[in-house]
Amino acid sequence: MFLDSEEFNIENTGGQMKFFVDTANVEEIKELAVTGLIDGVTTNPSLVAKEGKDFKKILKEICSIVPGSVSAEVAATEVNAMVKEGLELRKISDNITVKLPLTWDGLKACKALSSQGIAVNVTLCFSASQALLAAKAGAAFISPFIGRHDDIGHDGLNLIAEIRAIYNNYPELGTQILAASVRNPIHLIECAKIGADVATIPPKVIKQLANHPLTDKGLEVFLNDWKATGQKIVA
Ligand code: E4P
Repeated sequence: MFLDSEEFNIENTGGQMKFFVDTANVEEIKELAVTGLIDGVTTNPSLVAKEGKDFKKILKEICSIVPGSVSAEVAATEVNAMVKEGLELRKISDNITVKLPLTWDGLKACKALSSQGIAVNVTLCFSASQALLAAKAGAAFISPFIGRHDDIGHDGLNLIAEIRAIYNNYPELGTQILAASVRNPIHLIECAKIGADVATIPPKVIKQLANHPLTDKGLEVFLNDWKATGQKIVA
């Protein structure tokens, strides 16, 4: 089955690498959304638990801020219950992407929901074989976790590269690589070099992306020199 972003109501950024923000904190999302640089949001049960608020209310608010894909994870582990929860979450907004764990039940639920035109993000992916299965199950996104791989002494970025190479052999699979568990700017830059379609990035790391001490130092010098001219650009 060929899956395209239009069918799944996924914001298309014209072939650019998409940036999703990895948080369930509405204030952080608002602050980043005004930059116009955020294409979507991912949440997970741990991020939702941190907020201590009603899950559906949080999702409704996030969907009103961000028009792109907003991943919402099911809590059920049995296929029929997963599908039921997925359909319930989709009632909140059409830009909800149902997030399912990479288990056999999750893959079956992915097939069932994607066959109904519902965007699915298959999460907790730690191997290329899992990524291939998710694509065959019609996932709109596969979420390979980089940082958690690194945490156990494996190479998380190598997993992204492996999946990219496999998906490139079969473009008709149509699944986008959503690099997850991104912990620092280097992870992001390497993902961009490899050609991940999307990266979901914690707010703190998104802010780090723009920082450079030489930018700050250079600006300070420019502003001091400009001040010495006594000129104004707008009178
Ligand atoms: C992605 O969807 C996951 O929720 C997230 O990226 C996990 O990141 P962590 O390993 O830093 O918790």
